[in-house]
Amino acid sequence: MAVRRFDPNQPASFEFTPENLAWAQATIAKYPPGKQQSAVIPLLWRAQEQHGGWLPEPAVRYIADMLGMPYIRVYEIATFYTMFQLSPVGRKAHVQVCGTTPCMLRGSEALIEVCKRRIHPEPHHLSEDGDFSWEEVECIACCANAPAVQIGKDTYEDLTPELFEQLLDGFAKGEPPKPGSQIGRQASCPVGGPTTLKDFIKAQD
Ligand code: FES
Repeated sequence: MAVRRFDPNQPASFEFTPENLAWAQATIAKYPPGKQQSAVIPLLWRAQEQHGGWLPEPAVRYIADMLGMPYIRVYEIATFYTMFQLSPVGRKAHVQVCGTTPCMLRGSEALIEVCKRRIHPEPHHLSEDGDFSWEEVECIACCANAPAVQIGKDTYEDLTPELFEQLLDGFAKGEPPKPGSQIGRQASCPVGGPTTLKDFIKAQD
């Protein structure tokens, strides 16, 4: 994984829109007295959404102030989790390709080659049109449907290079495909139907 640092180009300040501020206050109020700092992750995520998909450094201080937390504690959270982007990302999609063992064994390196060819040879760089960016991340919890990528809040699974190209085409056209398995299997059921307990299933028919 790459070293995670805040982008050198930062806005002068950050504050929530009135709607997001009301949402943030309601979110903080959900936590018991003395535990308001537990709202830090959802607040950082909302700030990232408001700021076009990446988290500027002034937003981290803004949220730390809101929650009464030392800046360093919120910096640690923002720089640890790959769900937070610290530099500008593609307008249409920031693609997080899982490169952990199950996905690697099932072809994630070929997906990364597609990213290098179609988006940028290096991760964390914008495509020429500014619409896409990519990075390699650790496990995104879809191992049974490897290889998988995450875009925003959704995962796209059971990918081949061809299916992944179709996925990128869909985002480019503003018509993202349905998240989940891209070969149509239900959750992580076996491809081609059940492989165990067949006698039991037959007895139920
Ligand atoms: S290893 Fe890729 S989703 Fe777990």
